[in-house]
Amino acid sequence: MQLDSCKIIVTGAARGMGAYFATQLANAGAQVAAGDVDEAGLKALADATKSAKGRIHVRKLDVSREDEVASFVAFAHDAMGGLNGLVNNAGILRDGLLVKKDRTTGAITTMSREQWQAVIDINLTGATFMVRDVVANIARNEAGPAVIINMSSVARHGNRGQSNYTAAKAALAANTVTWAREFAPFKVRVGAIAPGMIETPMTQGMNQKARDALVAAVPVGRVGEPYDIWLGVKFIIECDYFTGRVLDIDGGLQF
Ligand SMILES: NC(=O)c1ccc[n+]([C@@H]2O[C@H](COP(=O)([O-])OP(=O)(O)OC[C@H]3O[C@@H](n4cnc5c(N)ncnc54)[C@H](O)[C@@H]3O)[C@@H](O)[C@H]2O)c1
Repeated sequence: MQLDSCKIIVTGAARGMGAYFATQLANAGAQVAAGDVDEAGLKALADATKSAKGRIHVRKLDVSREDEVASFVAFAHDAMGGLNGLVNNAGILRDGLLVKKDRTTGAITTMSREQWQAVIDINLTGATFMVRDVVANIARNEAGPAVIINMSSVARHGNRGQSNYTAAKAALAANTVTWAREFAPFKVRVGAIAPGMIETPMTQGMNQKARDALVAAVPVGRVGEPYDIWLGVKFIIECDYFTGRVLDIDGGLQF
């Protein structure tokens, strides 16, 4: 698929990688429907891309709300005159050990239901319903060829302190295979990207010691930039022979 023929939704587009992907897509001539819970961020994105070759249409979207997912997909279809893609990017972190012992008091605490569910609701259920409603729209309108890109993570292999995040990102990677098989009759390809640590607002809060340890485990010797992941998004959109696979873009990170 050509970038300038994309009529594509980007979720989590108000900042970080989502804002970067939406901007790159619009600069390449694509039409983009950008959704996020952060409406001020969406407005800033729209303002910053006014002179792009393509166009960005923005609207508030909470992917964990089934009604908002449905109405956002309808909005995107109307605003762009059709729909042939999704960058399924919205995501959150609520890190913590499943069971933790306090070093001083010896007290045992556990991950709360809320901490588990918040990540599952957005990173897994929300991402899944985005795929469901986008593909239903494409199938209904016989709008293929089309492409879905799921944002998984290197954490899908397992990572201390991220039971909730790991569960969601592993499921998204697995369902990338499932959905590639299910949606082939609709001419919809499904790929995923599993980034390593990328410089965005999500990772800015990480303490220096943990960051240094992570960089030491990256053969390329640096944290990734949104541009590194954009190259993967562009590849999956453009390569018609890519489906049902996960691209690891992590600088060779060793566990
Ligand atoms: N940064 C990294 O190192 C890294 C690594 C691997 C995977 N990822 C994944 O890449 C994606 C983008 O990450 P990022 O680093 O740009 O994060 P970020 O925190 O900078 O941006 C995430 C965006 O998602 C939005 N969002 C949160 N909840 C939402 C909801 N319910 N509905 C709609 N939008 C919502 C936020 O408002 C924000 O604009 C995420 O799925 C993340 O899990 C990030």
